[in-house]
Amino acid sequence: MRIVLLGSPGSGKGTQAALMKVRLGIPHISTGVLLRNAAKRGTELGLKAKTIIDKGELVPDEIMSDMIEERLSRDDVAIGFILDGYPRNLAQAKSLYATLERLGTPADVAIHIDVDPEHIIGRIAKRAKEEDRSDDTEEVVRNRMRVYHEQTAPVIEYYAGRGLLTHVLGDGPIELVLERILSVLRVDQAPA
Ligand code: AP5
Repeated sequence: MRIVLLGSPGSGKGTQAALMKVRLGIPHISTGVLLRNAAKRGTELGLKAKTIIDKGELVPDEIMSDMIEERLSRDDVAIGFILDGYPRNLAQAKSLYATLERLGTPADVAIHIDVDPEHIIGRIAKRAKEEDRSDDTEEVVRNRMRVYHEQTAPVIEYYAGRGLLTHVLGDGPIELVLERILSVLRVDQAPA
């Protein structure tokens, strides 16, 4: 199963992808995690990305497409993948389409996790107190939301146009959201 997860900052993409990885037995690929890990390692790319992440802007498409192409070429994705945080604009969506066509592994489904914006603000404020993410400050979150609406939201329509899009309600308990996703994927919901 090759799954693209879409949703605004704080919508629960990372949370759900981690649970789906366990239930579906396929890799979870998060571009946010890949970038933050590169920043922690202090690589040239990571340090460049960090200055952009800390403003809530998007890292340039060329960097992202190289990163994702390298990741999708590894053996472990032969059984499928859950893509979290990519694509994030129409250029990335088209680039991903071309890459997956070339690899002979087109996406099967795009799941948009749809959450009430008021819940998003509360979730990110809570995470800001619990974790140390440099882009969870009020000002940067506001910019991440703006970037999402301007650049990422059109990707939802892109997948709708390809007949691959499903919306899943992301409000409510984490396990309930997972159940909704598994039901869309027609996966047996009894724990493994
Ligand atoms: P990224 O790491 O992808 O951040 P994001 O999309 O802003 O998403 P978040 O991690 O904030 O939210 P999420 O939807 O994963 O929710 P989560 O599960 O964590 O990207 C960070 C930055 O990297 C970008 O701004 C950009 O600069 C750069 N970047 C990344 N990809 C890029 C790309 N393709 N191109 C260019 N730049 C790129 O949940 C949020 C919180 O809510 C958690 O605390 C969680 O515990 C809680 N929560 C989750 N579900 C529930 C629930 N149902 N009920 C209550 N709480 C919940």
